[in-house]
Amino acid sequence: MNQEPHINKTIDEQRQGEATLVESTVKPNGKKLYVESYGCAMNFSDSEVVASIMTKQGYATTADVDQADIVLINTCSIRENAEDRVRKRLTNFKNRKKRQPDLIVGILGCMAERLKTNLLEEEKLVDLVAGPDAYRKLPELIEEVGTGQKAVNVLLSRDETYADISPIRLNKSGITGFVSITRGCDNMCSFCVVPFTRGRERSRDPQTIYNECKDLFENGYREVTLLGQNVDSYRWNMTSKGEIKDETKPTTNFAQLMDLVAGVSPDLRIRFSTSHPKDMSDAVLETIAKHDNICNSIHLPIQSGNTEVLKRMNRGYSREWYLDRISAIHRIIPDCAVTTDIITGFCDETEEEHNDTLTIIEEVNWNFAYMYTYSERPKTLAERRFEDSVPEKTKSKRLTEIIDLQRSNSAKQNLKQVGKIHKVLIEGPSKRSEVHMSGRNDHNTKVVFPMENSKKGDYVLVKITDCTTATLLGEIVEILEPTNEQT
Ligand code: SAH
Ligand code: SF4
Ligand code: F3S
Repeated sequence: MNQEPHINKTIDEQRQGEATLVESTVKPNGKKLYVESYGCAMNFSDSEVVASIMTKQGYATTADVDQADIVLINTCSIRENAEDRVRKRLTNFKNRKKRQPDLIVGILGCMAERLKTNLLEEEKLVDLVAGPDAYRKLPELIEEVGTGQKAVNVLLSRDETYADISPIRLNKSGITGFVSITRGCDNMCSFCVVPFTRGRERSRDPQTIYNECKDLFENGYREVTLLGQNVDSYRWNMTSKGEIKDETKPTTNFAQLMDLVAGVSPDLRIRFSTSHPKDMSDAVLETIAKHDNICNSIHLPIQSGNTEVLKRMNRGYSREWYLDRISAIHRIIPDCAVTTDIITGFCDETEEEHNDTLTIIEEVNWNFAYMYTYSERPKTLAERRFEDSVPEKTKSKRLTEIIDLQRSNSAKQNLKQVGKIHKVLIEGPSKRSEVHMSGRNDHNTKVVFPMENSKKGDYVLVKITDCTTATLLGEIVEILEPTNEQT
């Protein structure tokens, strides 16, 4: 799902505009649907829910945009440039509609939720607008377009989790899949648009999560990534204050959910994203340590290394707290990769505050980081309370400094792997060579090696012989037999 050494999140820079062909088993209605996804893993996962809803109505999906009768663009609002990209794309479609007037163009996801009717009424860029909680209504909305009504549904829900919908997998590998466990976010980090576009946090029924993972395993998948904006706050049958909602039923927290899902099969790898430093408990770390098939890899965004900036960001932890969580990870899970997200140039960030981010990069030694300059988002706490005071030039300069430092750290860590043996799940042939395979190790680093007798979905032991900044290169020393144990 991305070019980086770990799956997750803001993929808008990395994996944009993907679409896939899906065969429909329902009586076809003769219409072809093209879905294009931007943004985080959650959006890509939602597009699979959309594909499922639409194929049940008889639509066939196409990977060829020129064949489409309906185009749905699943969008991201996280930074201004993410929206700019979608706007350009929508303008292309507006031009195409001059040639193909009955083409329906719809906008889904976070930008749809944020801009509501604007793109339809004022800018006339789309025919249909559906927010992240309105996908069940898509078939009706499409009918409304046909009757000339305003096809808009941006209602956010307190309980929609699409738990009963079996997503149609759009990931071509057939080996790794996303499984949503929560929707929305209650955190209100001051820079972030997500609570406004995705609504309140809600958790999905654990049994439906287990069933979906089991189903994926039975269909040949060997890795699932459990998705949520803050997976650590997953709670089933509990209020946000920890009170039990229904005394007659069991409760489930994130550690217990991972325990449950890890039991699907020892050959099904479990990943999860995103962990939140304020909520990541020792119990979660102990669960990761307990199960061989839960990957030793944690994405733990810090955003800034300075406690005052973290306060302005409303992140709910200090530099010291974050460092304590890093010590807990290393104490409880020996050999665990940790990755992060950093925002540079947040409101009023001083040179000293920026320096604290540079020093924490040295101190924590993350395996990988996604790094961004701050982009002010309408309606967020930061937009209302603070001034976006750091000049763009300074933001870029600081970003370059943190990228340079982090890159050299990542490269050093990769170099240390040369000579070691890693267990790798093969995702398929390498992009650059037909005689090479590509997969990921437990740490979520990409590993490329000559194919030999291996095939997609195999677990192999690979001896690392060389590396680039983001990829390890090696040779197979053993193709592992399946465990054949099931619970
Ligand atoms: N729920 C996740 C983050 C989801 S958004 C978490 O709390 O960590 C993914 C990343 O985008 C964030 O971690 C942050 O680094 C970045 N981001 C979010 N809002 C941003 C903004 N306004 N400007 C720049 N980067 C932003
Ligand atoms: Fe945004 Fe913060 Fe929620 Fe992450 S935890 S989605 S950064 S509000
Ligand atoms: Fe994801 Fe972008 Fe929305 S990061 S939650 S698609 S704003």
